[in-house]
Amino acid sequence: MRGVDPAWLPDGVFRPIGTRRTLIRGSGPLVDTVHTEVAGACARFGGRVDLDAGPGGAAYDLALELTGDGDGSEAFTCGRADGRTTVTASGGRGLLYGLFHVVRLGEAAFQGAYPPELFRPRVALRMLDHWDNVAVHPVMGQVERGYAGGSLFWQDGRARGDLERVRAYGRLLAACGINAVAVNNVNVHATEARLLTDRIGEVAEIAGALRPYGIRTHLSVTFAAPVVLGGLASADPLDAEVRAWWARAVAGVYAAIPDFGGFVVKADSEGQPGPFAYGRTHADGANMLAAALEPHGGTVHWRAFVYDHRQDWRDRTTDRARAAYDHFVPLDGEFADNAVLQIKHGPLDFQVREPVSPLIGAMPGTRLAVELQATQEYTGQQRHVCWLGPMWSEVLRFPVEQGSSVGELARGGLVAVSNVGDDPFWTGHPLAQANLYTFGRLAWQPDADPAAVLDEWIRLTFPDPPEPLTDGLHAVLDGSWRTYEKYTAPLGVGFMVQPGHHYGPSVDGYEYSPWGTYHFADRDGLGVDRSRATGTGYAGQYGKPWSEVYESTDTCPDELLLFFHHVSYGHMLHSGTTVIQHIYDTHFEGVEEVEAAREVWASLAGLVDPARHARVAELFEEQLRSAREWRDQINSYFFRKSGVPDAHGRRI
Ligand code: GCU
Repeated sequence: MRGVDPAWLPDGVFRPIGTRRTLIRGSGPLVDTVHTEVAGACARFGGRVDLDAGPGGAAYDLALELTGDGDGSEAFTCGRADGRTTVTASGGRGLLYGLFHVVRLGEAAFQGAYPPELFRPRVALRMLDHWDNVAVHPVMGQVERGYAGGSLFWQDGRARGDLERVRAYGRLLAACGINAVAVNNVNVHATEARLLTDRIGEVAEIAGALRPYGIRTHLSVTFAAPVVLGGLASADPLDAEVRAWWARAVAGVYAAIPDFGGFVVKADSEGQPGPFAYGRTHADGANMLAAALEPHGGTVHWRAFVYDHRQDWRDRTTDRARAAYDHFVPLDGEFADNAVLQIKHGPLDFQVREPVSPLIGAMPGTRLAVELQATQEYTGQQRHVCWLGPMWSEVLRFPVEQGSSVGELARGGLVAVSNVGDDPFWTGHPLAQANLYTFGRLAWQPDADPAAVLDEWIRLTFPDPPEPLTDGLHAVLDGSWRTYEKYTAPLGVGFMVQPGHHYGPSVDGYEYSPWGTYHFADRDGLGVDRSRATGTGYAGQYGKPWSEVYESTDTCPDELLLFFHHVSYGHMLHSGTTVIQHIYDTHFEGVEEVEAAREVWASLAGLVDPARHARVAELFEEQLRSAREWRDQINSYFFRKSGVPDAHGRRI
């Protein structure tokens, strides 16, 4: 698309296919998409594609064969024998993923011989939640926590008329394995509420643009819809009239969008309406929507992000980290089969470092989805380089209990809050594209090696990269999340950010506020005591071994120490330094690492296209300014609190 960055699908990656002869067998909408892709590649590079019966079958280099009749299955096989690469799939989606697999392999797909291998996603639902508003919100702008411009879907108060960009988005998503998108914000304001009813036609237009790439559309809805849209007196989930209203509303949605995916719901959270107002449980609320969706094959994604945001900060017994578990564990087993409980990966809110949410291991009778945040609300807001692959991989591989990892327990799907907007680079910071790509690939295979995914992203985004470019991009991206952690959030302390917009440091920004996120620093020490023995008891929400590992400072990993314990500044870490010295050291190191990364980027000037290079170079200036600000404020704050000088005598 003109004027828009091709991200990981520049023309060049289609050369190996586009210069060859391809046979496609099968029919259906997704086979048409596969054909369009291959035909486009051949038009650019001089190859040839035949649909079904081409003459002299043996002459093809590539065969893409649909062996079944459904579009449902996502699995495919890929192998090569007798000079021909063959992809087979029983569903159209599988064939499309098979095509992109061949694209990823590049020339290697056409070399030698290799036996057919089966590929299938480990997680059936791989979804992006867009926090996009139709109307521009007075405080949040159009995209809540969006750092890449306006919405891709909504413009001038309605669905974008020209959907070419949305189609291009669907194509990028399919190429990294994403198969579902929720097109509006979980905070459903007045205009957006109507997408469910009289404005469903606009959602249908967007769904129509995403469908050719195997992507199903979902919608965030307000629990109060029967009141605010239907004029009913109540939204009580057990009220027959309310249930009938939802059944009618859902029927209307499916009349407009027959393959509609379902709803996302944020209820009783940060001011959104929910079942508590009627004395009902969240299972009552979710099951009502599940019942309305069930006849049509839809799913409700019910978010577990429920906590008291009007807390008395002086009360050290209330602990926001406990809230999701306390609310939802008693409801385990009560949720309908098509109700999925969607849990943020950590107990608080997408901080740079959090433990895995204990709720994930405590709901064996409930389908769970795990929610990650690609939009970098707390990780540099797409002005800082912060590649989240290693963090997500740690989360997804985390062995919750009895050998089951988070990735395995997420039977209801993996979800990320999207980092995309109408910015020409899609993600604002061009290197933040790597986060979107990595999410898709890890959702397909949660135990994949993130460094290999990064390699793959580099090869696709920068076709035929010379070695210094590959090495340079690795140097800039690979450790960037740990670097960000160093200059912002030591040892599991979070939320030392500016209130409201959450960019830049403010150590006490949330300390004396009702939001429930504190560090409790005083002259003697800092951290939150979440032990069972003397603290909030949060550590006891984990099964073994984690309840014991986190309970004691002897066994708690350094990086989470202050999340679980209040300790003195002189407390000795397992690493052999004191807490206060660790704070100083990491903040100095973090800034040095940003300086080094900026130098590496500068050295890549001739190897990256000028527009991309300039954008990243400019953003590095801001990242460095901000990292220094973080270093100086955090170090000064804790120096003044503790009175302990830096062991290395650096200026603080
Ligand atoms: C965070 C974020 C909000 C968002 C919320 C959510 O609190 O700051 O903007 O609405 O998460 O996930 O619902």
